[in-house]
Amino acid sequence: MQLKSLNRRAFLSSSLAALGAAGTRLPLWATAGATSPEQSSPGQLLLGVDYYPDQTPESLWEEDARMMAETGITNVRIAEFAWALMEPSEGKYDFGWLHHAVETLHKHNIAIILGTPSAAPPPWLTVHYPDIVEVNSQGERLHPGGRRFTCPTNQTYRKLSLTIASEMARAFTDVPGVIGWQIDNELTLGSSGRCYCNYCQAGFQAWLRSKYGSLKRLNQTYGTVFWSQNYSDFSQIPVPLPSGGDPNPGLALDYDRYQSYANAGFTEEQLVVLRKLCPRHFVTTNNVGLPLDTINLHELYDKLDFVAFDNYPGFFDMLLHQQGKSGPLLSDVIPTAVALGHDFARSLKRKPFMIMEEQSGKAGQSTFAPQPARGQVRLWTYQAVAHGAMGVNYFRWDTATFGAEEYWHGMLNHDRSKSPAFEEIKQTIKELKSLGPELLNSQYESEAALVFDYDCSWAVKIQPGHYALNYVDQITSWYGAISPGHTGTDVILPGADLSIYKVVFAPVVYVLSEEQAARIRQFVQNGGMFVTSFRLGVKTESSQIVRAPLPGLLRDVMGVTVEDYVPIYSEKQSVKFSSALAGADGECGIWADILQPASAEALGTYTSGANAGRAAVTMNTFGKGKAVYIGADLTSPSLGAVLQKLSGLAGVKRGIEAPAGVEVTTRKAASRNWIFVLNHTSVSKSVNLPGTFKDLLTGEPQSGKTDLAAYAVRVLEAAA
Ligand code: GAL
Repeated sequence: MQLKSLNRRAFLSSSLAALGAAGTRLPLWATAGATSPEQSSPGQLLLGVDYYPDQTPESLWEEDARMMAETGITNVRIAEFAWALMEPSEGKYDFGWLHHAVETLHKHNIAIILGTPSAAPPPWLTVHYPDIVEVNSQGERLHPGGRRFTCPTNQTYRKLSLTIASEMARAFTDVPGVIGWQIDNELTLGSSGRCYCNYCQAGFQAWLRSKYGSLKRLNQTYGTVFWSQNYSDFSQIPVPLPSGGDPNPGLALDYDRYQSYANAGFTEEQLVVLRKLCPRHFVTTNNVGLPLDTINLHELYDKLDFVAFDNYPGFFDMLLHQQGKSGPLLSDVIPTAVALGHDFARSLKRKPFMIMEEQSGKAGQSTFAPQPARGQVRLWTYQAVAHGAMGVNYFRWDTATFGAEEYWHGMLNHDRSKSPAFEEIKQTIKELKSLGPELLNSQYESEAALVFDYDCSWAVKIQPGHYALNYVDQITSWYGAISPGHTGTDVILPGADLSIYKVVFAPVVYVLSEEQAARIRQFVQNGGMFVTSFRLGVKTESSQIVRAPLPGLLRDVMGVTVEDYVPIYSEKQSVKFSSALAGADGECGIWADILQPASAEALGTYTSGANAGRAAVTMNTFGKGKAVYIGADLTSPSLGAVLQKLSGLAGVKRGIEAPAGVEVTTRKAASRNWIFVLNHTSVSKSVNLPGTFKDLLTGEPQSGKTDLAAYAVRVLEAAA
């Protein structure tokens, strides 16, 4: 496909195609000029770069924009940390430099996403208003000098953030080239992701007042009679700071919810202004996605146009090694965690998402993650598109020679020579554009879903039950166990429509609301398969333990009673499977729920110790469906064997078979589909194709055994 030049109208039309086809609510920015012939022209992915004109001599802007255009870059994201330049002193604004930067980029047909700068308040602000800083979970005040050190509740910080965002919006609403906004930057990150200051305490108390209405109700809900915590005034309610004993679990869970609400509310204030002043532009924010669980992303993205997040597989690799993990994590473990993040981002709004920052070189603040291997940046880009991305911005254009991120390499090195991945990125952009608009507008179909529940994650953090039990780890290992089936998996929140899936996986549903229990009941009743694990239904939404035999609200659906729940330390426990699941005995990790089947049949039994012969895995027929309880914390590989077997029993179609380390996903449009085959490993792999396909990147036919070199990608379409 010939590359179109990207003037604003063309950009709007391509974005219209992208978002419109994805079912996104179309704001004016996308519908503007809908009658122009350009509207019928093909859409294209947003293939951009994060750019810092504020950190770059003005004399280089023209050269930068020209080089970006030559590289095929469609857009930049700029200004998200430039508060000090845009408002050098309180109430005095200077957007002259930013106008010039935008003009320069637009002249080269580069579209612009503007970032509001609230993640990095300038020194004049923190000196005048020292109270805006965050207090961490140890009660220590953070200090200015870094970024993201602010309190999400503080009204002064909120007002000043809103004012600069409003001034920017007024200044750029009609400026050619500007297409959208990123609010703030990575609200989900921060030293602790939580603030415990006096403003947050007051905000929390007000939030509790509106949630509970009366102190009587709050006291009852929390059980404050325990340890003499009865509150007689809302102003007495503390935040969960160190206090000589663990906090009340109900209060601690509510505090997580409050912090999420405060951050989402902070974002929404800016959104309201941007919607009003810039109706032609899209608005999003970037986050760090799963496996971080700081803010409920459903709340954060509810009113935004699409989900955007930042993806740094190599940095992740370095962090895991720092934490003592070893082995080839970047090819064995991390692709699965990244895929989980992508699937979550897509499923949150059931729409294409954007990678606002994609690692393009060595990454790190004070230490370097290794240079991505040749082909890996391309692979990560395709992995995002394979899971439903509509755009990828590479982080960053040039590499800073000053500041805290001098080590974070971009597409240009410190001396402005091209980075090792530069040509690879250029090639990737060209290839992706050549795949055409239908791919961009295509859907990702999943017959299976994995439930991620913030309440469960936070409540398990507050009281893990076993020191090694971590909800996000459980979700990640279940996702990793399912994904070799290449079936496509949505990662959904409680409350999502379950009826569209054949099987729903939901490990460690520790907190279970009545509404979610009813949804699950109906899903199974109507013929779905629900697969869950130990610790099901232990707690109410208020974080009280249910006064009923476990698994509480779903006991009849599961057809079992939990007779005992057993954290496992030194003793080993194995599980023998019945013929329905077959396979070698499974190893039980850190937990064993001992099940007493009522109507359910046992599919697995414990083999040793006091519980030998007792049920470990059960399946119940309930209505037209099945409910499976995996009471044992099955470790890999038996968890994979069991979950994939169950997926098959539920009638989920397996994708193309591929060896370990090779991912296969499918995107579909009305009459076409695209199969992405991604080799995440450093060695060549081969896949047996069921039929004849066309490799859309090489134009060559492929059938039977097809080879993929290390980190190689194939995009296949079934031959007509
Ligand atoms: C992201 C952040 C960017 C930059 C990048 C590299 O998390 O949004 O501003 O810091 O990491 O460190």
